[in-house]
Amino acid sequence: VKQSTPPALQFLEEALRGLERDGLLRTRPEPVPNVARTFCSNDYLGLAGRTGFRAAEAATGAGASRLVVGESREHILLEEEVANWLGLESALAFTSGYAANFGIVSALARAEDLIVSDALNHASLIDGARLSRAEVAVVPHLDVGAVEAALWRVRGRRAWVVTESYFSMDADSPDLPRLRAVCDAAGAALVVDEAHALGVFGPEGRGLCAKAGVVPDVLIGTFGKSFGAAGAFAAGCRALTAWLWNRARPFVFSTGMSPVVAAAARDGVRAALAESWRRDAVLARAEQMRDGLAALDLSIRGFGPIIPLVVGEPRRAVRLARDLRERGVHVQAIRPPSVAEGTARLRLTTTALHSEADIAAAVRAIRETLACLGSS
Ligand SMILES: Cc1ncc(COP(=O)(O)O)c(C=O)c1O
Repeated sequence: VKQSTPPALQFLEEALRGLERDGLLRTRPEPVPNVARTFCSNDYLGLAGRTGFRAAEAATGAGASRLVVGESREHILLEEEVANWLGLESALAFTSGYAANFGIVSALARAEDLIVSDALNHASLIDGARLSRAEVAVVPHLDVGAVEAALWRVRGRRAWVVTESYFSMDADSPDLPRLRAVCDAAGAALVVDEAHALGVFGPEGRGLCAKAGVVPDVLIGTFGKSFGAAGAFAAGCRALTAWLWNRARPFVFSTGMSPVVAAAARDGVRAALAESWRRDAVLARAEQMRDGLAALDLSIRGFGPIIPLVVGEPRRAVRLARDLRERGVHVQAIRPPSVAEGTARLRLTTTALHSEADIAAAVRAIRETLACLGSS
């Protein structure tokens, strides 16, 4: 159907032209079937493309919110599996990481509370804080001293320190033991989103908190990244999940996670646990990619399978991504507002399914593309 833009929406045409002019327009990418040439997925363990998975007994739909009649055996099994794996009392599944973060932060923090939020926290955490109407202190990225100062300024009020464990755009991590100590000293709760760390880091892939020996008050993970499915969870004590069951708006007012997806997520968690070669492979390939790019004198941030190559201007990032795609290497240009002005980048990622030859080919393509861009 061809439809002309209705008068009330015509302002969108101009706004979209503005985005295009500034190199900020996001368009739909072509589906990329070739895993070996894709360096921008969050499928770190290479589990998303599994085809052998069978969930014959799982229903396709929950049919209602889980508070109504949407509860299924698959939800319960998934949540038990996750809680046991993490050594925590309880877990609650959400339909996405966005819904989880938005729902968790807004359900926990009250208007009279303080949320201390890292400057680079994911949009879903920021949006949850907004919905809560709590006072939000945005602290400089990874600055534990600033967290401490913010907490002591409002001593006596309930406070929530919210951070990611492995930042999705900068590939770095806060000092989690220090954050825990600062929270304990101030009586604040520590909320950690391990979206990009679970499955990849720590003993049995239990994440960067587990690696550091830190138990957050609220641990958040997604099933859509390392576990190759979709959805997310909050884990912690039983009172936490009982409260979220009652108050997390995206959980209460939305159809429950599809039971088939819950089964796929559980299968993904099990595979991640059982197949430790995947963890070893993704980390080894990341090292290889980092070494290869460092040898080109490129400045690469952070550690692990997210490899941010900052190029500055959005147009340069887009051009680089496009030229690389023409050479068969799929990478994503990340531009403001996802990252700060002037720090547009290629966000490269490795997966367990990349071979050494795949990584070598990608590094070669990046070298050649940068050389051409430099001389054009
Ligand atoms: C740190 C972080 N948390 C949460 C999410 C959202 O997870 P989901 O893709 O499951 O909605 C993302 C997504 O990219 C993320 O980077």
